[in-house]
Amino acid sequence: MHTMAVTIAEHARRRKKVLQEIGRDALAVIASAPVTLRNNDVEYPYRPDSDFFYLTGFAEPEALLVLVPGRKQGQTVMFCRERDPELERWNGPRLGPEGVCRELAIDEAWCIDEVDDRLPELLSGRKRLYSLFGKDDELDRRLFGYVRKLRRKNRHGVVAPTEFFDLGQVVHRMRLIKSSAELRLMRRAARISARAHIAAMKKTCPGRMEYEIESELLRVFRSHQAETAYASIVGSGENSCVLHYTANRRQMQDGDLLLIDAGAETGYYAADITRTFPVNGRFSAAQRAVYHVVLNAQQAAIDQVRPGNPWDAPHRAAVREITKGLRQLGLLKGELKALIKSEACRKFFMHGTGHWLGMDVHDVGDYKVDGKWCRFVPGMTLTVEPGVYIPPGNRKIARKWWSIGIRIEDDVLVTEDGCEVLTRDVPKQIDEIEALVGSEADN
Ligand code: GLY
Ligand code: MN
Ligand code: MN
Repeated sequence: MHTMAVTIAEHARRRKKVLQEIGRDALAVIASAPVTLRNNDVEYPYRPDSDFFYLTGFAEPEALLVLVPGRKQGQTVMFCRERDPELERWNGPRLGPEGVCRELAIDEAWCIDEVDDRLPELLSGRKRLYSLFGKDDELDRRLFGYVRKLRRKNRHGVVAPTEFFDLGQVVHRMRLIKSSAELRLMRRAARISARAHIAAMKKTCPGRMEYEIESELLRVFRSHQAETAYASIVGSGENSCVLHYTANRRQMQDGDLLLIDAGAETGYYAADITRTFPVNGRFSAAQRAVYHVVLNAQQAAIDQVRPGNPWDAPHRAAVREITKGLRQLGLLKGELKALIKSEACRKFFMHGTGHWLGMDVHDVGDYKVDGKWCRFVPGMTLTVEPGVYIPPGNRKIARKWWSIGIRIEDDVLVTEDGCEVLTRDVPKQIDEIEALVGSEADN
């Protein structure tokens, strides 16, 4: 287990909160993620479901948590894999039902094979069923199968659930506000990611391959017991304008920009950072001009992250600054107000300015409730990531702008009186970047 991991007591408090919220005649079921095959019999590295892990701290597959408010024998029940010395020799230790009760403060645990017999019993007499319906077809089918079975016993006095609720509405609202233990992990993910970006900048020079820079990022992640939170984007030249470029196989050329979007995951919490810099360590005049626009926009957006402001405030600020900047550079033509209103900058800035960040890189949590943008509250964490992308080939745009793709992305925590940039260790000012790029390209 990770040394900074969220404590068992905190996981237990989260379960208690869910038990209280769903109420006495309800029941909640949540499964961990399935094992996924990569090919033939080879599996992807296992990653538990974030909601499941959030409530349990349990990282084994084939597990199901059932929350049963008011149950006398215990309100928290887990189904998990049985111990198996032979298999454990191959695949590592399992907690087993006893271990789950002992180590994870679960009240009662059974073998996962017993779920078809035992879960209908737990469900019997409950009016409301909470689960993450629509996420796992197999679990949905099983749950509705149990409900059907119970309904057939109606005339014997058995009560089956009649109302079905999205457990996400309960758990995701909790996940949106990070605890201090969660913030410790997020700061750690940010710190490791910052080191990786700095190492990547130092290694970059013309002639090097994009994948060599990717390997530098991964080296730093793994050397700190972290993994990559998502496939790293290392896009040079025109690849900097391909938003989801992950092939990372081009040789970098003198005069290119390099856009790196990479983040570490540690203890199941992610960072998500983008930096863009010149491969040869010196911005061209055109690159510098666009970089200024994006940097200004990002700062303006970050300044909007404070308690009480609506979710779209940073995006609106970014759109205003990018529109203003691109108009000054002659890339947008027309009256500023009209350009902002018609979102003319979408031609160059076609994505949002950020997303919630946490256990999932695109974290859970509502953005709008009852038709209104959510407002920032201390403890929320999000990214701020405006960008401008000018792919080559458009003859209406002067050649000097071609292949300029720039995004600057930081991770931000909403505080009592504003915000804190968790990823501030990665330089983004032009002079800082120019001093760093290629400084260790020879080793
Ligand atoms: N790395 C994914 C994103 O920036 O949203
Ligand atoms: Mn992002
Ligand atoms: Mn990103």
